[in-house]
Amino acid sequence: MMGRSMRKPVTVTRPFWQGVFPPDTLDYWAGLINPAWSLSRVRARVQSVTPASRDAVTVVLKPNRRFAGFVAGQHLAVHVTLDGVRHTRSYSPSRLPDAPECLAITVQRVPGGRLSGYFCDQAAAGDLIELGDAFGDMTTATHARHTLLLAAGSGITPFIAQLRELALSPRSGQESLTLLYWVRDRASACFTDELDALTRSLPGFRWQLRVTGDPADSAAASRLSAADLANWLGGRHAASAAVLACGPAGFVSAAHGLSSALGVTCLGEAFSPPAQGEAGEPVRVRLLRSGRELSIPAGQALLPALEAAGVKPAFGCRMGVCNTCACAMPEGVVENLLTGEVSQEPSSALKLCVSAARSALVLDC
Ligand SMILES: Cc1cc2nc3c(=O)[nH]c(=O)nc-3n(C[C@H](O)[C@H](O)[C@H](O)COP(=O)(O)OP(=O)(O)OC[C@H]3O[C@@H](n4cnc5c(N)ncnc54)[C@H](O)[C@@H]3O)c2cc1C
Ligand code: FES
Repeated sequence: MMGRSMRKPVTVTRPFWQGVFPPDTLDYWAGLINPAWSLSRVRARVQSVTPASRDAVTVVLKPNRRFAGFVAGQHLAVHVTLDGVRHTRSYSPSRLPDAPECLAITVQRVPGGRLSGYFCDQAAAGDLIELGDAFGDMTTATHARHTLLLAAGSGITPFIAQLRELALSPRSGQESLTLLYWVRDRASACFTDELDALTRSLPGFRWQLRVTGDPADSAAASRLSAADLANWLGGRHAASAAVLACGPAGFVSAAHGLSSALGVTCLGEAFSPPAQGEAGEPVRVRLLRSGRELSIPAGQALLPALEAAGVKPAFGCRMGVCNTCACAMPEGVVENLLTGEVSQEPSSALKLCVSAARSALVLDC
C-alpha cells in the first residue's frame, strides 16, 4: 500500500499566461474579444426584461462559466456600473426550467432607487452586469412539517424561487406550506397566476394575498398580526412548525416577535436597512489602513457615519447580510443595530452597515 509520504506531490497546472499576467489584465484582453468573458469575474448578459407587476420587472440573465450557482432562496450581489459609478445591491435569483443556463431576478421599483430604477426603466437585452457569490439561509421552506412563508413586497422573491423548485421535486415529510403575501395594492403583486397554479400542482400549498392600501379590494387586510400566526398554527404543535419571513426590516422584526411569542422558530431576512439609532456624543475612530483618526456620532450605523466623514468602505446590501462591508475591529464597544446586542470583544468581521459605535473604536479599514 502506498503510504502518505510516498505519494507523488500534486502539481497544479495552470495555463502559463495566468502566472505571467495579473487577472485584471487578462480580463481586459478577454473582454475586448467578448465583453462577457472573464477569467476572474462573473459577468452576466441580460437576455430579457419583462414586467412582473406594475412596479417590478423580471430580468433574465445568462452568466459566464465562472458562476458557481445558487440554492433557491439565496441572494447574490449584483454589480452595475452606471455613469462610471459601480453600484452593488442584493437580489434573490430563481432558476428557469426552460433555460437552465440562465437565472432570473425580479426587481421591484424603489422610488428614487438607483439600481431598481435602472432595471425597471433602462435595462435591455444585451446589457452586461456582474454577479457576486450567492449566500443566505432563506432556503429551508421545507424543513418543518408545517411552514408559514410571510412575504411583503419584493420579499416574495426567495419564496417563489423555492416554490418553483419544490413544484419540480416535492419533498416528503411536509404536510402544509402556507404563504401570506402582503402588497400595497393588487397591481403591485407579482407571480399571482403562478401562485394560483402552484396550489394545484404542489401538495399542501396554499396562499393568500393581503392588500394593505386599498380598503375596497376583496383581499383588503391589515398588517401582519398575532391573529395571522395563531390562526395558521391552530392546534398544531409549535415544534412541528416554522415561520420564514422576508420583506422590510419592520415586517421581519414583527414576524420574529410574533413567532417567538408562540414558541415557533422564525427565520427572517430584511430587504431594507435597520432603523437608525439616535445620534449620540461624538467618538474617536482610528483607521489602521489609512492611519486616519476621525470623529463620528455614537449610536449610528458605522457605514454611513464613515461615508459622511469622507471614508468609502466597500458595501453591498447595507443591511447586514452580504458581509461586503465587514472589517476587523481590534478595539472598541459596538452595538448590533439589528439585535440591540452590545459587544466589547474584538471582532474579525464587524459589519459596518449594522453596527454602531458605543465607545472609541479601532477599525482595520
Ligand atoms: C438579501 C436581500 C435580497 C434582496 N432581494 C431583492 C429582490 O429579489 N428583489 C428586489 O426588488 N429587491 C431585493 N432586495 C432589495 C435590493 O437589494 C435593493 O435594496 C433595492 O432594489 C433598492 O435598491 P436601489 O438601488 O433601487 O435603491 P437605492 O439607490 O439604494 O435607494 C434606496 C432608498 O434610499 C433612498 N436614497 C438613496 N440615496 C439616498 C441619499 N443619498 N439620501 C437619501 N435617500 C437616499 C432612495 O430614494 C430609496 O428610497 C434585496 C435586499 C436584500 C438585503
Ligand atoms: S454591506 Fe452587506 S453586510 Fe454590510
